[in-house]
Amino acid sequence: MRIFFIGDLVGKPGRRIVKEKLKNLVDEYKIDLVIANGENAAGGFGLTEKIKDEILDCGVDIITSGNHIWDKKEIYDFIDSEPRLLRPQNYPPDVPGKGFYIYSTKNKEKIAIINLLGRTFMEALDCPFRAFQSIIKDIREETHNIIVDFHAEATSEKKSFLFFADGLVSAIMGTHTHVQTADAIISSKGTAYITDVGMTGVQHSVIGMRPKEILEKFIHGLPTRFQVASGDSYINAVIIELDQKGKVLFLQPGIF
Ligand SMILES: [Fe+2]
Ligand SMILES: [Fe+2]
Repeated sequence: MRIFFIGDLVGKPGRRIVKEKLKNLVDEYKIDLVIANGENAAGGFGLTEKIKDEILDCGVDIITSGNHIWDKKEIYDFIDSEPRLLRPQNYPPDVPGKGFYIYSTKNKEKIAIINLLGRTFMEALDCPFRAFQSIIKDIREETHNIIVDFHAEATSEKKSFLFFADGLVSAIMGTHTHVQTADAIISSKGTAYITDVGMTGVQHSVIGMRPKEILEKFIHGLPTRFQVASGDSYINAVIIELDQKGKVLFLQPGIF
């Protein structure tokens, strides 16, 4: 099974490039499942129902998210009716939405997608390690094809999670920092790992946003309203190939 995992999709430029390129990439790399992190898809902050549908319509099968998932208030109205949209599993259990989903591909192969949120340099939240521990046994009874989107700021937290979940999952894809890291590896137990997949949006920007307001904030320390950047865009993504037992055969991060 081949998976195309797309890093944080930022605003209209990010959506536009996915719409333009995804169908050809899926054909070229014989992709069975497309996962995209959509936490920044609506103007850089959160997700609306219309934009969620737009992303799914252009060939994304599963949308993961992170700390920005709640930024558009209408998320509360539709997150419970769309199982293909995930919020991190380690929010308290009575928070709307779900943190994992078991998907069936066209070839009737099952694959689980789990979304977790880090706690280091981020908002206080339930423990992502324990949240994972409480669901992984049941998930592995259904499938050994398991992809984790670990959405976190600290490299150390994401890398530690590799040692915690090594051999239990197929791949751990770091997201949130919007910059693709050069540390992709397949462990001896067959788990793929990258600290950050990167972002999908305007290349010459501050992590997808227009520099003007960001500079204003850095220089004067005053609150500013960030805007999505404009200009040439790229897709930051990772191609993963799994064997029949959910172990990784091939891992290729790239800029598309
Ligand atoms: Fe993000
Ligand atoms: Fe984030």
